[in-house]
Amino acid sequence: MADLSINMCGIKSPNPFWLASAPPTNGGEQVMRAFDAGWGGVVWKTLGTPITNVSSRFGAIDVGTTKAVGFNNIELITDRPLETNFKEIEAVKKRYPNHALIVSLMVESEQEWKDIIARSEDAGADGLELNFGCPHGMCERGMGSSVGQEPKILQRITHWAKTYAKVPVLVKLTPNITDIIPPGLAAVEGGADGLSLINTIKSIIGVDLDNLHLKPTVGDASSHGGYCGPAVKPIAMHMVAALARDKRITIPISGIGGIANWRDAAEFIALGSQSVQVCTAVMHYGYRIVEDMIEGLSNYLDEQGMASVNQLVGKAIPGFREWGDLDLNYQRVARINADSCIGCQLCYVACLDGAHQCIHTQKGPCQAWHGEPDHGVNPRLQASPKVQHEPKNGKSQVPYVDEAECIGCNLCQIVCPVPECISMVEVPHNKGHESWNQRVAKG
Ligand SMILES: Cc1cc2nc3c(=O)[nH]c(=O)nc-3n(C[C@H](O)[C@H](O)[C@H](O)COP(=O)(O)O)c2cc1C
Ligand code: SF4
Ligand code: SF4
Repeated sequence: MADLSINMCGIKSPNPFWLASAPPTNGGEQVMRAFDAGWGGVVWKTLGTPITNVSSRFGAIDVGTTKAVGFNNIELITDRPLETNFKEIEAVKKRYPNHALIVSLMVESEQEWKDIIARSEDAGADGLELNFGCPHGMCERGMGSSVGQEPKILQRITHWAKTYAKVPVLVKLTPNITDIIPPGLAAVEGGADGLSLINTIKSIIGVDLDNLHLKPTVGDASSHGGYCGPAVKPIAMHMVAALARDKRITIPISGIGGIANWRDAAEFIALGSQSVQVCTAVMHYGYRIVEDMIEGLSNYLDEQGMASVNQLVGKAIPGFREWGDLDLNYQRVARINADSCIGCQLCYVACLDGAHQCIHTQKGPCQAWHGEPDHGVNPRLQASPKVQHEPKNGKSQVPYVDEAECIGCNLCQIVCPVPECISMVEVPHNKGHESWNQRVAKG
């Protein structure tokens, strides 16, 4: 069985699965249950000058029957007294000496940073995470994402923290920025030992159309919140990978954003994360999801012949290229499996209206299923009656792909409701590799 243990910039953890700083890490009793369930580490709910939270504070987007595909919150940092938090951190650390306990912090002045770092270390923190990411409430007070958006200030506060901290310091970055590299570099230059990202994305989750109140409603109003959950995973992976492939980023990364199962975690790790952090999925399904994450990742590593999770870190990064370096001669086409096709025509409509008009029905061009005549000006549609429209495997509803016209965009495969019914097949060629950048260089 593969070794899942990690040592991220000196923070040791029995596995790479950490809880992100959020409601699941609000207090000692919760964190102890999380460790019992199998989580390797936690980042304690951000500590700072006590605040008051509003009610209500969460909102979500459902897609079909899937609940909370995107999640939004207007919660701030801890609303419990600092003394209570530190007492509980001490108790947890005593009982779980081999788990990673990182304390998230957010204060304003250098003196406040010095004090809260000392108190966190006295309580037994294995590491600190500087919250430069919270995009609501705290940023208006000059903290959170307002620091993450200003590399110079981020660097200065990171330097303060490193001046006073004895344990490793992670800098948690905000995604509310056009380019993640400058704040990442500022953290490195400030002396950070590691990066964590992403925090939440500024968002309005919805409007109640009965009374035109924004959600989540606080009386008759709301505020922008922070977006997270499965919907943000692609944005988070892009930012993690962008940092991981930059040679100037010399410190390890803790990946966060939409991670809900071992596959999500493995993808983040392959894109350069040494540890991964989870919030929304645990708020949705509870601590026990980590059992499947541990088992799934462990099996995957065994199947890949990897003895340790560390061998997976960054393995997908060489495949991340600039668009200008991609092979313009590579070609794939869609192929429909007539046996499994249920004749729903979704691929046909998608290709007709949203792609390259090269899927045809056996009844002829577009009017057969779409009910609209073509206008006689699209050569692909005009050509279609000449292609073969005989029933495939005796099924008259199986559409036909004109492979010579297919641009291999994947849209039909994406919309097809039958798993593996449409496969995208590589077309062999002997033209060699030619990228846009090579073409421009040739002149
Ligand atoms: C209700 C809620 C409260 C949060 N509070 C904090 C916080 O106090 N400190 C912090 O650094 N991040 C906080 N976050 C952000 C999470 O730690 C995490 O970065 C983000 O939710 C993305 O991960 P996910 O998609 O797994 O939820 C909070 C998120 C939620 C949903
Ligand atoms: S891959 Fe794109 S162009 Fe080709 S058949 Fe499917 S939708 Fe049409
Ligand atoms: S979308 Fe899939 S199942 Fe539906 S007609 Fe096309 S290939 Fe068949």
